[in-house]
This record gives sequence, C-alpha cells and structure tokens, in this order.
Amino acid sequence: RDERAALKARAAELLKARNAALVAHYYVDGDLQDLALETGGIVSDSLEMARFGRDHAAQTLVVAGVRFMGETAKILSPEKRVLMPDLDATCSLDLGCPADDFAAFCDAHPDRQVVVYANTSAAVKARADWMVTSSCALDIVSHLKAQGQKILWAPDRHLGRYIQEETGADMLMWNGACIVHDEFKGLELELLREQHPGAMVLVHPESPRSVVQMADVVGSTSALIKAVVEGTAKEYIVATDNGILHRMRQLAPGKTLIEAPTAGNSATCKSCAHCPWMAMNGLQNLVDCLETGSGEIAIEEPTRRQALGCIERMLDFTA
Ligand code: 13P
Ligand code: SF4
Repeated sequence: RDERAALKARAAELLKARNAALVAHYYVDGDLQDLALETGGIVSDSLEMARFGRDHAAQTLVVAGVRFMGETAKILSPEKRVLMPDLDATCSLDLGCPADDFAAFCDAHPDRQVVVYANTSAAVKARADWMVTSSCALDIVSHLKAQGQKILWAPDRHLGRYIQEETGADMLMWNGACIVHDEFKGLELELLREQHPGAMVLVHPESPRSVVQMADVVGSTSALIKAVVEGTAKEYIVATDNGILHRMRQLAPGKTLIEAPTAGNSATCKSCAHCPWMAMNGLQNLVDCLETGSGEIAIEEPTRRQALGCIERMLDFTA
C-alpha cells in the first residue's frame, strides 16, 4: 500500500514536470483513474477521451487504456507526444480486423458508407468514412439511414446487430467480438435477475443479444455510470468490464453493484470480466513511460491524415 502511494505521488510529480495530462479509461486500475482526476486529467469513455486529448493544452498526453485510444489521440494531435504505459495493450476487436482484409472487404462493396468502431487500428480508420464509439453509434447510423445510405460496419458484430435492430439500417457486417463482453451469458443473467427482482440491469452493447435483451439500460461506459448515479433502484447488475465498478462506487456509494455472470464466473474465477489489455496499465509502467519517454505512439503521416477525417466527422457530429 505504501509502495503504491509512493508510486502514485511520483507519477503525479512527473505529470506536472513533463506538462503532461493523463487520459484514462474507466476500465483501468482504480489508482490510475484517481490519479487522472487528481492531476487535471480525465477518466471517461472512449469518445470523451478523444475529445479531451484533442482539446487539452498539454504537450504530452499519457493515455491509460488500449492502443486504439492512444492512436486516436495521436491522429487528432500529431504535434503532441502521446505516451502509453504499455504499447502492447491491444484489443480483440482491433486484432480481429487486419487492415489488408478490411481493405478487400471495402473494395468489394464500394456502394456502402464505411463505418468503423473506435476499437480499430489507424490503418483501418484510414479506409473509413465514419468512426463511431458506443455512445454515438446509434445517432450516426440513424443519420446515415435517413440519408438513404447503406452501411459497411466493422468490426464488432454484437454492437452492429444491436444498432441494426434499433435503426433498421442496411448494414453489412464484419464478424468481430470483444473477448470480455462476449462472455456474458443471458441464461445465467436471467437467473441472477430472478434472485434480485428490484435490480436494474445495465449492459454495454458489445455484449451478446441474449444479454442486451434483458437490459434496462444499454449504453457506453459513461451511460452506464450515469444510470447508476441517477437510477432509483438500490441494486444494479452490471454487464461490462468490472474496472468500471471503481468509479460507480465513488459516484454512487449507497448503491449495491453486482457483476453480471460470465462463462468463467465460478469459485476459481471471481473476476473474469476484466480486459487483459486494460489490465496492462499500472502505476509502475506509467512512471516508467514518464521518466524515460518509452511507449510513444508513432503513426506514418499518410495513414494518420487518411484516418483523421472519419474521427473529425464523428467529433463534429457529436459536438
Ligand atoms: P466505451 O466507449 O463505452 O468506453 O467503450 C470502450 C470499450 O473498449 C468497451 O469495451
Ligand atoms: Fe477491446 Fe473488449 Fe478490452 Fe474493450 S474490453 S478494449 S472492446 S477487448
């Protein structure tokens, strides 16, 4: 505990000395989330991380999250230094959508607007017309549908199916999934809800359909936190990465939070719903990257420029 406090203090000192802002996601270690807030940074969903990084005056951004979040920050602010505690922190959606295969998919369907989820590489974004996150995907796809556009969607099939069902848009889909949310189980969730009849069920839309169908609220990480803060229920069943519970507990201390069941929830695995790549962010490697300048994001200029358009379109649309 003392060691963690010392590392946290050291990280705060370095952030100040390097004129750096810490941009953290709700799924990372609670100490990193707290540190971001205590030092004038942010903890948020992926949409607000992108906006905050772009608008902040700091010359260095330290992104505590996964690779695509650091890349998005660099694409938006090429003049800033963007560091990550561990550059190997990737995402199964990004890994499951290689740029060459994706380009071939786009080439085969030139009549469609290409809409990609934020959880993709810069090279995939370079082929896209729009980037979306879970907090704006519904609005952007509804907007495209109203214009009569057909959509090519990648890579998350659960989020894509949810958006398609909600909007009725014509969407051709890539077959990707998040390894964390894909593990939530509808049947077990139903049993859990029977044991907690007054509980509100909160679900991130990367979850399978059987889980989404039981939700009282479906939304981004920010939307799920808002639902706990504003909800009148006493108990909440939460189907997303359990890193989010840290902020929920801080903002809604009187409420009872229950993790939704995953295939791995058992005596041997109490917290399976945690992204292994988000978990690669810690106090020690945060201090290391600030001390040595390691973990710097670099993106080739043609790719960066091509990827910028789809991100700016989303930020303008949601401004
Ligand atoms: P949010 O944009 O809702 O924060 O989601 C990001 C993510 O990676 C969820 O798994
Ligand atoms: Fe990717 Fe899932 Fe991890 Fe989010 S929780 S970063 S979607 S693997």
